[in-house]
Amino acid sequence: MTRAVQITQHGGPEQLQVVDVTVGAPGPGEIRIRHKAVGLNFIDVYQRTGLYPMQLPAKLGMEASGIVEAVGEGVTHLKAGDRAAYASNPPGSYSDERVMPARNVVKLPDAIDFDTGAAMMLKGLTAQYLLKRTLPQGGLKEGDFVLFHAAAGGVGLIACQWAKALGLQLIGTAGSDAKCQLAKEHGAAHVINYSKEDFLPRVKEITGGRGVKVVYDSVGKDTWDKSLDCLAPFGLMASFGNASGPVPPFSPGILGPKGSIYVTRQTLFTHIATREVNQEMADDLFAAVTSGKVKIRIDQRYKLEDVQQAHRDLEARKTTGCTILTL
Ligand SMILES: NC(=O)c1ccc[n+]([C@@H]2O[C@H](COP(=O)([O-])OP(=O)(O)OC[C@H]3O[C@@H](n4cnc5c(N)ncnc54)[C@H](OP(=O)(O)O)[C@@H]3O)[C@@H](O)[C@H]2O)c1
Repeated sequence: MTRAVQITQHGGPEQLQVVDVTVGAPGPGEIRIRHKAVGLNFIDVYQRTGLYPMQLPAKLGMEASGIVEAVGEGVTHLKAGDRAAYASNPPGSYSDERVMPARNVVKLPDAIDFDTGAAMMLKGLTAQYLLKRTLPQGGLKEGDFVLFHAAAGGVGLIACQWAKALGLQLIGTAGSDAKCQLAKEHGAAHVINYSKEDFLPRVKEITGGRGVKVVYDSVGKDTWDKSLDCLAPFGLMASFGNASGPVPPFSPGILGPKGSIYVTRQTLFTHIATREVNQEMADDLFAAVTSGKVKIRIDQRYKLEDVQQAHRDLEARKTTGCTILTL
């Protein structure tokens, strides 16, 4: 028997229950992995609340590190004893041990410890695809302005550092002065505390009235309208989350007068749909981390049995950087 976190109905953090489960042998294309640490992500909240509905009862968690215990038929890129990490469907990483598809599991370099491995995969691969694969017409060049909301969060602090390494001028928003300071220390060229200042005029001022080439928006409902107005002509609105609630329906007709702007809704799982691309993106992330260009900041650690508190703090905007569950 091993521990796993399960919900039997959608709702608040109190729905998260630690239960005993049995873990079988891996089938074809699967591995069994014993976790060392587990990553917490905002998507776990959407799945718990039912914003992203799940078939119930459901296990939670999309990110972890650990040691491969056994591999099923057809798995050639991993073997028992390998250090490994992943961002992967199906949910179920909030557990000591699990069986899962091998496709999105990669070997973790020796230079990266297990806590860092658990914290960085989903958030780091997201920063990777946003800054390198979710680009405006003509791409991004050194010196270009981008706007990144929730810049002091898990994905945010990674993106601040990576954007700086790419020579981009990242304008980061965050909900407090302390969070803004953190984003700045991690490479944001400019910061805006959007809980007390209107970010639209500030973005216009910083960019000399031109606007930014891309807005990376994971806040959703609260930032959507003004973010569209922060874009330069032909700019790209890259929506990738809804921490404040989903974006309401809109008419494409509004995009023309705003400067023939583009809108996309991105998800990591489209990018990592094949093992090859997943590995390529993970290699890029590992190189960014092992070179020191991107530091993975783990600001919160909770025991697996304290998972309810971890969710409460994440939703209450009390966290910064990455959060892990320890086993
Ligand atoms: N589509 C994808 O592929 C993908 C992949 C990974 C993550 N994401 C999204 O990216 C975002 C960041 O994920 P993360 O795990 O790193 O979380 P996080 O950024 O550490 O936490 C979310 C942050 O959103 C901000 N926020 C603004 N309004 C909020 C509200 N009403 N309630 C709660 N938070 C609010 C808060 O920062 P402030 O206090 O500074 O505003 C909060 O700390 C999430 O929206 C997540 O769903 C999407």
